[in-house]
Amino acid sequence: MPQTVLITGTSSGFGKLAAKKFQAEGWNVVATMRSPDKETGLTQLDSVLVTRLDVTDIPSIDTAVAEGIERFGEIDVLVNNAGLGAHGLFEQYSADEARALYETDVFGTMNVCRAVLPHMRERRKGRIITVTSVAGLIGGPGTTLYSGCKFALEGFTESLAMDYHAWGIKVFTVAPGAFDTRFNTSANDAWDRGSDEYGQYGRKMGAYMADIIDNMKKAGGKQSDPAEVAEVIYACATEDRPIHNVVGVDAEGLAKTLATMPRQQMLEGMLARLPKLDDL
Ligand SMILES: NC(=O)c1ccc[n+]([C@@H]2O[C@H](COP(=O)([O-])OP(=O)(O)OC[C@H]3O[C@@H](n4cnc5c(N)ncnc54)[C@H](OP(=O)(O)O)[C@@H]3O)[C@@H](O)[C@H]2O)c1
Repeated sequence: MPQTVLITGTSSGFGKLAAKKFQAEGWNVVATMRSPDKETGLTQLDSVLVTRLDVTDIPSIDTAVAEGIERFGEIDVLVNNAGLGAHGLFEQYSADEARALYETDVFGTMNVCRAVLPHMRERRKGRIITVTSVAGLIGGPGTTLYSGCKFALEGFTESLAMDYHAWGIKVFTVAPGAFDTRFNTSANDAWDRGSDEYGQYGRKMGAYMADIIDNMKKAGGKQSDPAEVAEVIYACATEDRPIHNVVGVDAEGLAKTLATMPRQQMLEGMLARLPKLDDL
């Protein structure tokens, strides 16, 4: 009997690729998104239920989970993929914007876990895979809000593994490096805000980071393919994997450095290379 996965944020990027991967492997897929009316591709596929789920809207989560169970009988795997980015200096974001990001990336993920875990506990099995980021492994310029969210998810997942081990529920993080998805367009960036010294430094840092991200994407001499992320998500659903996983040549390089170099040494190296106020 085919297994069932519920995935959040399947309107684009890794979420859509993961939905297609699971479907192609013969799974039932509850492909959730904020605006299912706009979806045309996934709705054409067999064994795919496209339905509305906004991770900040608890009734929408409960309805999508109930619909998935009604249609396919159970949910074996949850993929927490939905997320927003934020790139800019700390004060370039308002407190309301910071709160909104955490509502989606952190509390949104917890909301969906809370809706699915009773079902998994009852069945004494299940897997939960959360897409985090390299920004959840180390802080970086302009990622105060985003790193805060993704560090939170790395810690949340590790502790969740302890809380639910007794019920046979396995949990994983998948931390991608930089990949070309809609996420890496400038929609969530705040680098250009303000014209004073702080704003000018934000612009300088934004250009500095754009170069770094470009190099990360090309690390190892090849452009990373977002489908690699869907492959690792699928592997976490089907194989023996560690709790923490990275994907992408840049992420693998970073994980290796973090495992071998003292963290302080690495941070000092990053600090030494940052733009200076004299450069403005
Ligand atoms: N691309 C990268 O370089 C990269 C690197 C590391 C980690 N990540 C992480 O990967 C995950 C997927 O991102 P992506 O790269 O595939 O970018 P993406 O194409 O922008 O996908 C993000 C998805 O999240 C959905 N979403 C946002 N807010 C939501 C909400 N409140 N409820 C439900 N869905 C919501 C979006 O839906 P709408 O269409 O409704 O906006 C979209 O489907 C995110 O968690 C991101 O942090 C990405």
